[in-house]
Amino acid sequence: MTIIKINAITVPADGGADLARRFAERAGAVDNQPGFEGFELLEPTDERTTWLVITRWADDESFQAWVSSAAFGQGHRGAAAEGADKPAPPRPGMTSELWSYEIAGGSSH
Ligand code: HEM
Repeated sequence: MTIIKINAITVPADGGADLARRFAERAGAVDNQPGFEGFELLEPTDERTTWLVITRWADDESFQAWVSSAAFGQGHRGAAAEGADKPAPPRPGMTSELWSYEIAGGSSH
């Protein structure tokens, strides 16, 4: 059953464009990760400065395997050297929180 892992990234008031650009240039290393089902990057449309990266996984083991894989480092190398497999250091003023959910109900077309 699909599980949901959300990375909630809070940026400085003027930091949204930088985050959007980094995601536009993302590595794509997660796309072929076993158990990965997809993700959405959600930008706030009110005064909040917390963006959400909603990721969907086949199970918790698949998510944990990605977090400890080289693909995670490649997907987060940002401004680090090309080819690096370690995450870049966070930007000043950027904080992040991991939220874990499972689907408890809903409806869709
Ligand atoms: C310290 C914690 C984290 C920060 C500051 C952060 C921030 C970022 C940033 C800025 C990018 C764009 C690529 C780049 O510039 O490096 C990115 C990519 C991504 N992040 Fe995170 N992230 C963190 C942890 C996580 C976690 C725990 C998840 C999953 C819930 C996640 C999901 C993703 C995904 C799916 C991508 C696209 C990767 C790819 O294209 O391969 N991130 N993240």
